[in-house]
Amino acid sequence: MLNIAIDGPAGAGKSSVARKVAEIFNIFYFDTGALYRAVGFYMLKKGLFNRQGFSIEGELAFCNLELKYLNKKQHIFLCGEDLNSHIRTSNVAAAASFVSRNLKVREYLLNMQRDFAKVHSVVMDGRDIGTVVLPSANLKVFLTASLRARAFRRYKELILNGGNYNFEDVFNNIKARDLSDSAREIAPLRAAKDAVVIDTTHFSLDESVKKVQSLVEQLNLEEYIELL
Ligand code: DC
Repeated sequence: MLNIAIDGPAGAGKSSVARKVAEIFNIFYFDTGALYRAVGFYMLKKGLFNRQGFSIEGELAFCNLELKYLNKKQHIFLCGEDLNSHIRTSNVAAAASFVSRNLKVREYLLNMQRDFAKVHSVVMDGRDIGTVVLPSANLKVFLTASLRARAFRRYKELILNGGNYNFEDVFNNIKARDLSDSAREIAPLRAAKDAVVIDTTHFSLDESVKKVQSLVEQLNLEEYIELL
């Protein structure tokens, strides 16, 4: 299988680049953040953030988390409900970042990600794909950009989706997530030693895609072709 890992901080363009690259090479795109968002959403919905002494492991045993591809688009189902239209808010992002520090949550989601990559050629994006989930990925990319550029991209995206947002709030939200994702003990946001680091601050989406595309083309694709 061809496994491509794309990691980086929030708003670096990982998902847009990963989706396009997957399209170009006709392989799957797996957004691993959506899994953490689904768990965060569940915790918010159930009011578990404020409850004392609950067991996250016990909770996860009851919520059947499923990954499905419908018309090649990834959907996350939780207890039978399609969560795709519920998990893109800033609240859910913050909840996802919070739950992602929990070892049990990470272990639970790790297997889902690895099992998928074992049997599918995939571009997987997240925070720990090159370091933890797929340490033997065929290509590892770490996409980054200045905090301001990332906040501005996220702000534009939220506004285009019809929301009413304030730039400073979006900026502070991304800044807080950077800190929480990089400072956590387990699987923190880091570039793998063998990752190609790409700073996209001054790149358009197209330029970032071309850069990653050319890195994929430098791999010996013949080796994977029959497996795609
Ligand atoms: O990529 P995203 O913004 O949808 O991710 C939401 C949160 O999930 C992110 O702030 C940290 C967590 N996450 C993680 O810990 N590991 C991953 N591989 C992907 C996301």
